[in-house]
Amino acid sequence: MDNQDKNSRPAVMERVRLLTRAMGHRPLACVRTYGCQQNVADSERISGMLSCMGYDFTDRTEEADLVLFNTCAVREHAELKVFGNVGALKGLKAARPDMLIILCGCMMQQETVQQQIRSKYTHVDIVFGPSMIPELPSMMEEALITRNRVFTRRERPEIAEDLPIVRESAHKAWVTVMYGCNNFCTYCIVPYVRGRERSRASAEILKEVQELVRSGYRDITLLGQNVNSYGKDLEGEMDFSDLLAAIDRMDGDFWIRFTTSHPKDCSRKLLDTMAASRKICHQLQLPFQSGSDVILKAMNRHYTAEDYYGLIEYARRVMPDVVVTSDVIVGFPGETEKDFQRTLDLIEKVRFDNLYTFLYSKRTGTRAAAAENQIDEEVKKERFNRLLAAQHPICLAKNKEMEGRDYTVYVESVSKNNPECLSGKTSGGKTIDFPGDAALIGQFCKVTVTRAKSWSLDGRLKECQHD
Ligand code: SAH
Ligand code: SF4
Ligand code: F3S
Repeated sequence: MDNQDKNSRPAVMERVRLLTRAMGHRPLACVRTYGCQQNVADSERISGMLSCMGYDFTDRTEEADLVLFNTCAVREHAELKVFGNVGALKGLKAARPDMLIILCGCMMQQETVQQQIRSKYTHVDIVFGPSMIPELPSMMEEALITRNRVFTRRERPEIAEDLPIVRESAHKAWVTVMYGCNNFCTYCIVPYVRGRERSRASAEILKEVQELVRSGYRDITLLGQNVNSYGKDLEGEMDFSDLLAAIDRMDGDFWIRFTTSHPKDCSRKLLDTMAASRKICHQLQLPFQSGSDVILKAMNRHYTAEDYYGLIEYARRVMPDVVVTSDVIVGFPGETEKDFQRTLDLIEKVRFDNLYTFLYSKRTGTRAAAAENQIDEEVKKERFNRLLAAQHPICLAKNKEMEGRDYTVYVESVSKNNPECLSGKTSGGKTIDFPGDAALIGQFCKVTVTRAKSWSLDGRLKECQHD
């Protein structure tokens, strides 16, 4: 074996498998994922590699030989939760010093976090950021052999296309189309922890989608922090609209979704492509963040509230059934009552189907964190509550509009709200619960909405399309 073979990922994974086999039983891994779908998709690759290294999986940290937390840094609250949960592992490690505790993901790419883990959480064995996931086997080998702690903040620019994947669901799948972000919205930590935009080659994406469709996946979501930038970093690569159109042309009965779009890059071409397609879902998650042009400028978002209305109007013109959802931040530094009023105006005017509302959280290293005009916590909370109160009746009214109508849904699972019911997702991304046989899971069905509530919809099975 030459050096390259010895260091290849499969060779390293095989050596780790032999090392862990020495435990005398099939080792168990507990993988916990925080944050966004990007992290969920990353964890599926982590689980794929762990499985190749001989691990089975458990939800319980108490019986795990390896505990891995894939973390999020987007808000302070998320980070505090992780520190708490890592602290709680100390006793487990003291009782079983041979177990491995691994922390990765966005939060771990930050220098201050690594310093804190190094000095105060000495029971943690391996720490690394999102781009180093493909190196997990070699870091595990090093930790298992030397028993040293392995910390790295290295960023690995190349995309690894050959990682094994253990998917969470047999019906819906995530496909990352690009990594990183170049936008540097002034509140956001993501570009600092996930690095610059890197697109996967379209041939690889099309191959992955094809394989998923072949193995029975019917609901596929393309992922990226800003999918509309897809391909810009690769010479001669197609743009995101053309990628979607190419997927739409593939054989098979499936749906394709994507997240997230940035209003500055969300083109008319993309919306036209969605409208003209058969398989692209009419679901648009388009974060607006603020309704005030002054705040949007300070956020470095590169659009105005008027531009945003224009986009939504166009989307609704070409796709009257489009479901529009958004993200909004309350209490960005310098936000006045007037600015906040503009945010309320925007949500009244647009009438989103759903809104993800965030209290501004100061992220060390971002431009907004250094601003002196930070907003008082009480003011933020009061505005936040007013925002929720304004959006609540809109959600209910939007759902009420669906009452009595028929929708094609993709049946995902048994309902979390009621074990007697199934949960189906519409093309717009709305979930409808309806009584039905579990054999329908993984199929498209037609469902009539019987009752709409603010956060959920009940329905009745009308017909099953693919018996
Ligand atoms: N790339 C995606 C999502 C990024 S993070 C996009 O741009 O749409 C998801 C959401 O978290 C953001 O849309 C924003 O609303 C929120 N967010 C990001 N940083 C935040 C911060 N510092 N405080 C509060 N909310 C934040
Ligand atoms: Fe963060 Fe803005 Fe990039 Fe989204 S587009 S990840 S909000 S910097
Ligand atoms: Fe969090 Fe990283 Fe996603 S910071 S929101 S897990 S990109």
